[in-house]
Amino acid sequence: MEIRKVGVLGCGLMGAGIAQTAATAGFNVVVREVSDELCERGFAGIDKSLAKFAEKGTITAGQRGEIRGRLTGTTKFEDLADCDIIIEAIIENLDTKRETYQTLDGLCKPQTIFASNTSSLSITEMMTATSAERQKRFVGLHFFNPVPLMKLVEVVRTILTDEQVYEQCVDFGQRLGKTTVRTSDKTGFIVNRLLVPYMLDAVRALEEGVGSITDIDNAMKLGLGYPMGPFMLGDFVGLDTTYYIAEIMFNEFREKRFAPPPLLKRMVLAGLYGRKSGRGFYDYTTDPKNPTPMNLV
Ligand code: CAA
Repeated sequence: MEIRKVGVLGCGLMGAGIAQTAATAGFNVVVREVSDELCERGFAGIDKSLAKFAEKGTITAGQRGEIRGRLTGTTKFEDLADCDIIIEAIIENLDTKRETYQTLDGLCKPQTIFASNTSSLSITEMMTATSAERQKRFVGLHFFNPVPLMKLVEVVRTILTDEQVYEQCVDFGQRLGKTTVRTSDKTGFIVNRLLVPYMLDAVRALEEGVGSITDIDNAMKLGLGYPMGPFMLGDFVGLDTTYYIAEIMFNEFREKRFAPPPLLKRMVLAGLYGRKSGRGFYDYTTDPKNPTPMNLV
């Protein structure tokens, strides 16, 4: 079976980015959200991103129209029934994901591949909400924010993933214009396995007075050529998300390096989630392009 039609569940930051990327690669895409309002909000983000690419000359005005024409929004699961692959990017809640997969398993054709964009939940635990046949056609496809710009997709196999299906997913990731890496269903896969302890260590270094927010960020950015330092990146990813991923990884591995430090927990409790809430390690409320470091320790 060739992958032609792509279904995307969720039109938030990740879902919208995945849908846009798939449509740009020439696939017909149906995106499902819980309400028309959320769908429209996601499509507004896609339009903004496509406008940026058109402005830069990465795509022509004609291509922009074609890409947009390949994208359809819906609130009905039924509209995903004939998709060849469904990429799920909904809320990181295992029960909600399992319920969604169970519903779709009954609606979709037997060949449809199910792929989750989860960054930290177990693919195996989601997969078991579906039939034995579907379980062979269940993988993880983990994208990175901002999806239209970030070049990587982690292709995740479980111990039950069919070999051919897995190879087809690797090929699909490449057809999306991404570099794929192969990994297995161990919490955090490759990137978060290494990224999360690094970010948590940065918070510990801050707590211990090793350096200020600005100095630690500058050190990692300029000393290693990273696009962002650990605090700027934490604010970009969302500190609530980072905390949530760390908790899951700590529960899985029971290793101290995955344990969220007290400062991170308190920031999340206080509503300092990073860019999305206006404040995190930096304050974005006055000048979002030049945020000022917060006084946290
Ligand atoms: N669509 C189109 N263009 C976009 C865009 C989007 N969604 N987002 C940004 N751009 C464009 C900007 O318009 C800008 O264009 P110009 O150069 O023409 O001005 C260009 O990209 C660069 O953007 P900025 O000037 O705003 O800032 P920047 O140079 O710092 O680049 C960045 C932004 C690409 C996000 C870069 O900072 C970066 O790579 N940061 C690291 C991101 C990262 O690590 N992401 C992974 C997070 S982890 C994750 O996602 C997974 C998980 O499980 C937690």
